[in-house]
Amino acid sequence: MKTTRRDWLRTSASVGASAPFFLVAKPVWGYSVDEVESKLKKEKSISGVTLDDLPTPSLIIDLDGLEGNIAKMANHAQAAPINLRPHGKTHKCPEIALRQIKAGALGLCSASISEGERMADAGVPGILITSESVGVNKISRLVRMTAKHPDTMAVVDNPHNVERLSEAAAAAKVDLNIMIDIDPVGRRTGVQSGEPAMKLAQQVDKLPRLKLRGVHSYSGRSSHVDGFLERKKHSETVMAAPIETFEKMKRNGLPAEIMSGASTGTYNIDSGMRGMTEMQAGSYVFMDVDYRSIGGKNSAVYNDFQASLTVLATVISKNYDDRATLDAGLKAFATDREFGPEVLGLTGVEYRFGGDEHGILTISEPSRPVKLGDKIRLLVPHCDPNVNLYDRAYCVRGENVVEVWPIGARGHV
Ligand SMILES: Cc1ncc(COP(=O)(O)O)c(C=O)c1O
Repeated sequence: MKTTRRDWLRTSASVGASAPFFLVAKPVWGYSVDEVESKLKKEKSISGVTLDDLPTPSLIIDLDGLEGNIAKMANHAQAAPINLRPHGKTHKCPEIALRQIKAGALGLCSASISEGERMADAGVPGILITSESVGVNKISRLVRMTAKHPDTMAVVDNPHNVERLSEAAAAAKVDLNIMIDIDPVGRRTGVQSGEPAMKLAQQVDKLPRLKLRGVHSYSGRSSHVDGFLERKKHSETVMAAPIETFEKMKRNGLPAEIMSGASTGTYNIDSGMRGMTEMQAGSYVFMDVDYRSIGGKNSAVYNDFQASLTVLATVISKNYDDRATLDAGLKAFATDREFGPEVLGLTGVEYRFGGDEHGILTISEPSRPVKLGDKIRLLVPHCDPNVNLYDRAYCVRGENVVEVWPIGARGHV
């Protein structure tokens, strides 16, 4: 059997103090954080590194889970059939976006122009920017991005903004692809269904350099309704008017071809709606504590997709039987939910925030002993803002770290 450098290092560790100095090469317990960094820089590889070697807290992607989720959604879309333009706001990671495209997605949604720019420059096609581009900065960047990537699409919900977009596009001699953002009663963005949306679509259709492409209507409220049947009822109710407006646009001869919406919570509901042409689900690649709690078609836990995203933490203090302190606190997790993270693969323990850099595990009946130095993996409360806290994700298969992906659009909000 081949002896790896790690085996050698472990062996040399067991030789201990009696070994000559040069044999007790660093690191005796695996790679140090500096070595991990240096391997990445010099060798462009991370082979031989395991979860134990990583700095904590770190963002971890389970590659088998991620790939399974990407394939499952792609297969669902293909069978429906419906197009898939997943939302990249979840992962902000071009490596994941390109895998989604390879699996059949026709493009990617981006929450903002700056997120979209990063994705397009990384080679991701068909970016739909799902927030309105308002103001000189965003409009000029949208025009520049579309000049570079002509399949870029933007959403609108206001006639004045539509005029500004047309003026800027005409000045730059660029055609902008425009989707009418219709509010499915979430009151976040979007024009109302029916007449207001029709008027806006007609305006877009008439103005120079604007190409009407269809309707964007995302119901964030439907996505997290507890219970499959309740969720189905909610989504069908709120999506009926936007879809009918889209159909009316087509009946009236407007060149609307895309009807885009849906989320991870409603992918198997909205994909069956007549008129819907594409889905923009995002969280399915990772899942999180929030999504798992909404319930599936046949299960209390929503487990249509695997939990592939965790934060790795270390037990840094263990002075009581009933508690342990982790090095992952408020700065390691998104805190926009009422609940915190959940410990993975260890029952009888509960996490609570213990400060900026600390988390407290309350230990009642642990399924295995919790010891000082243990590495603990935790499912994140809400995946999108959690990813945005980290510069990179360590990708693992089992215990082995096999790749490191930058969160390339991190901070591009
Ligand atoms: C406009 C838009 N579309 C799609 C999504 C994806 O939803 P989910 O991550 O729940 O699948 C989001 C998420 O917030 C969104 O804001």
